[in-house]
Amino acid sequence: MIELPKFLDDRGNLSFIEEDNHIPFEVRRVYWIYDVPGGEQRGGHAFKQTEELIVALSGSFDVVLNDGFEEHRFHLNRSYYGVLVPKMFWRMLENFSTNSLALIIASTEFNNEDYIRDLNQFKKLKAQ
Ligand code: TYD
Repeated sequence: MIELPKFLDDRGNLSFIEEDNHIPFEVRRVYWIYDVPGGEQRGGHAFKQTEELIVALSGSFDVVLNDGFEEHRFHLNRSYYGVLVPKMFWRMLENFSTNSLALIIASTEFNNEDYIRDLNQFKKLKAQ
């Protein structure tokens, strides 16, 4: 979990992300997840190479990370916190609040070959 800069102001607050100061990789892609129906989960996979920074720009949700042995749950409900997801972590996004908006900054362009979608295969690879 990393804390991003924030400028609190009567006119509204402002936060920002700079690649060189807040992200331990070169940014290749930005995507966002929105309009998630109540009770739905996103993710449920790992990436072989992709690293990510996940920010709850609006609302709240949980980022659940599993390294193959232990699970860690991060509750994001402020837009000035981000969860860094290293490569080869099983990751799940769940418990989305109404109108939540997940911003995801990634180290790679989209490549379906980078996904591991089978949890057993992931656990086997981590156990090697
Ligand atoms: P997926 O990564 O499976 O969603 P999640 O893990 O959040 O449940 O992506 C859903 C679909 O969107 C899938 O068909 C691939 C496509 N997609 C892209 O084309 N580009 C992207 O950058 C991402 C993240 C997904």
